[in-house]
Amino acid sequence: MPRGSFITFEGGDGTGKSTQLALFLEYLQTHEIAHIFTREPGGTGIGERIRQILLDPACAEMEDMTEALLYAAARAQLAREIIRPAMDAGKLVVCDRWVDSSIVYQGLAKDLMHGRGGSEEAVRAVNAYATDGLIPDVTILLDLDPAEALGRARSADGRPDRIEAKGISYHRAVRESYLSLAEREARVRVVDAAGPPEAVHARVIDAVQQAVEITK
Ligand code: TMP
Repeated sequence: MPRGSFITFEGGDGTGKSTQLALFLEYLQTHEIAHIFTREPGGTGIGERIRQILLDPACAEMEDMTEALLYAAARAQLAREIIRPAMDAGKLVVCDRWVDSSIVYQGLAKDLMHGRGGSEEAVRAVNAYATDGLIPDVTILLDLDPAEALGRARSADGRPDRIEAKGISYHRAVRESYLSLAEREARVRVVDAAGPPEAVHARVIDAVQQAVEITK
């Protein structure tokens, strides 16, 4: 049985990741391509409980280190319980976020915001341990100017949301961090997330097909 492929989706808030994931899963279904879909943080019973802690406003005082380790802990469970067994069975695995999210959010972007450096290596090391070095075959990075992402969010409901709450400089740091990662790692394919969802979807399919063979 050949090893299955591992595809991940990444992107900042408001880049349309959820919409594109839904369209991609629909594509797989339409073309009868067997797959499993999972998300981070979560995807397992234990991971979902860790997710609740990470998202709980009562845990707002959480230390950066604690946060990074909790994301890695949820990922360790997901890698062993779901992803590895599925890949060993030859299945295609699609995951909403993976280690790159931690490298960006807990590492590069946080360092940019605080004018410091050095977190990336620590985050990488912890996650290499947590995942046993499980790296996606291809990572779709949805890239959009944060000003446009904010515009989209505003036009959706007309009031400040969680995207605006964090501030544009934070979202710029996230974008810059993702793009610097993509420059260094060939598996990370930057997809222009501007324009109508169907047009972005066509770019996503193109990028995936250039990297891995997805067939029935
Ligand atoms: P999402 O539901 O839009 O994907 O957002 C999940 C949030 O969790 C997003 O703000 C990024 C954050 N996150 C991290 O900070 N580190 C991680 O490792 C993961 C998986 C998510």
